[in-house]
Amino acid sequence: MQILRRTLALLFAVLIGCMAEAATPVILPQPTLFTLREGTFRLTNQTQIHAPSELRNPAERFVEDVAAIVTLEAPHKASKQAEGIRLQLNKALPTEGYHMQITPREIRIEGGSAAGVYYGLQSLRQLVVQYGDSIPCCTIEDAPNFSYRGAHLDVVRHFFTVEEVKRYIDILAAHKLNRLHWHLTDDQGWRIEIKHYPELTEQASKRKETLIGHCLHSTTYDGVPYGPYYYTQEEIREVVVYAAARYVKIIPEIEMPSHAQAALHALPWLGCTEQQVEVWTHWGVSPEVMCGGKETTYEFLEQVLTEVMALFPSEYIHIGGDECPKERWEQCPHCQARIRELGLQDEGQNRTAENQLQSYLTARIERFLNAHGRRIIGWDDMLAGGITPTATVMSWQGTQGGIYAAQHGNHVVMTPMEYCYFDFYQTESREGEGLAIGGWVPFEKVYAWDPYAGLNDHERDYILGLQCNLWSEYIPNFNHLQRLLLPRLAALSEVQWATDRRDPTTIRIRMEQMRRLYELCDWSYAPYYFEGRK
Ligand code: ACM
Ligand code: ZN
Repeated sequence: MQILRRTLALLFAVLIGCMAEAATPVILPQPTLFTLREGTFRLTNQTQIHAPSELRNPAERFVEDVAAIVTLEAPHKASKQAEGIRLQLNKALPTEGYHMQITPREIRIEGGSAAGVYYGLQSLRQLVVQYGDSIPCCTIEDAPNFSYRGAHLDVVRHFFTVEEVKRYIDILAAHKLNRLHWHLTDDQGWRIEIKHYPELTEQASKRKETLIGHCLHSTTYDGVPYGPYYYTQEEIREVVVYAAARYVKIIPEIEMPSHAQAALHALPWLGCTEQQVEVWTHWGVSPEVMCGGKETTYEFLEQVLTEVMALFPSEYIHIGGDECPKERWEQCPHCQARIRELGLQDEGQNRTAENQLQSYLTARIERFLNAHGRRIIGWDDMLAGGITPTATVMSWQGTQGGIYAAQHGNHVVMTPMEYCYFDFYQTESREGEGLAIGGWVPFEKVYAWDPYAGLNDHERDYILGLQCNLWSEYIPNFNHLQRLLLPRLAALSEVQWATDRRDPTTIRIRMEQMRRLYELCDWSYAPYYFEGRK
């Protein structure tokens, strides 16, 4: 079936490729400059790729990426021979930028870094999908607007295998994204092997059953044990290397002190009451959080983060921090003793003593990570009790938190629900979509989003970038995950990469080309945008 689908997709691509020959070449996200020239470059299985050793990786990725359309030889060392595809570094270009010149004899791609060359090759891949073996001569100049172009993946509520995470990374890279925010721990499971605490994966990587239906209306469970599902450290390393080869950095998220019920199940001493709780089978916000008072919590977190840092080279480590109910802390002698010791007072509004205790925990963990050369990023909930000047804020409850943080000189990643939660419905009628958490985020809304709204020129400089989030409560399998990601990711990628040069006049025709890419790659996508439904 797979082979049949691929063959049909290929035939379709070649057919449309012939029909589209006269059409204008299109790239998504929109490049900075595109100039069409006379003539074509003929791509054949004799076409050689010339690449210096530091560009072998993007060259090899390109050979794989176009393998469904044309079989190319492994890249050759850079030679003077003029014909073929020539890759070069050009340090005068922006780091992730590239310049591509296509003449009848040569395709020359210069990049500010290997990543820049890789993005040039992604654009070339789109031209190959559009034109097959006759690539129109043109010049392209291109560079991204935002340096952080992310997508998040929750592997707790539903688990995705190493192979599926790799496919997810392939999809991100094809849209020129460069960050995967990997949400590895939560109430319903712990999915990363920590050698120091084998109980976490032995006991917390499975739950006894899973909720059926929506968490606001249902108390029915399926009675089917879920798990054990987790990644070994070896598997994590494999995924990190795979992502790096596609210029995607992985930011791991270890939730603290909230969304931690699974960890509390395995290690009850992490909680305030030390009573055993189950790995949660419901969705939502659990009151069972790590104790902020006991020293053992901090020892645990430092131990876990030490292993996490050894696995992930990312400068940023995501420390979660969202949705932390304080009812346990209000009753806990350890938490209250710590509050007294720190002299924390209720300062009204959100600045309760308990929220400030959470800020203490976050700042302490930040110092620990900083001492190891890393930085923290956390959800905007952490603003409630105050943050350090060096914390980076992920703004999900709208953009207000992000705007506030930018105004105060903190770096920000914008991921507001109303534009970036791809677990939300895509159409108003919701027909055929299956169950989702709620909301309404059609392609068009993502595409029209102004991520700078409410920020002056100075504050804009603090916005590192944008990210979509995929929480997996209602995403039971990888096929469904892809249909939530695509095609909305294409809209987001243009906002991330080409923020101020989005081209709505050509978006439909460019999306038709992206759709052909999805079909060639056998990636599932939602049909609504293409059907004109929103
Ligand atoms: C979140 O959606 N709770 C960050
Ligand atoms: Zn406590």
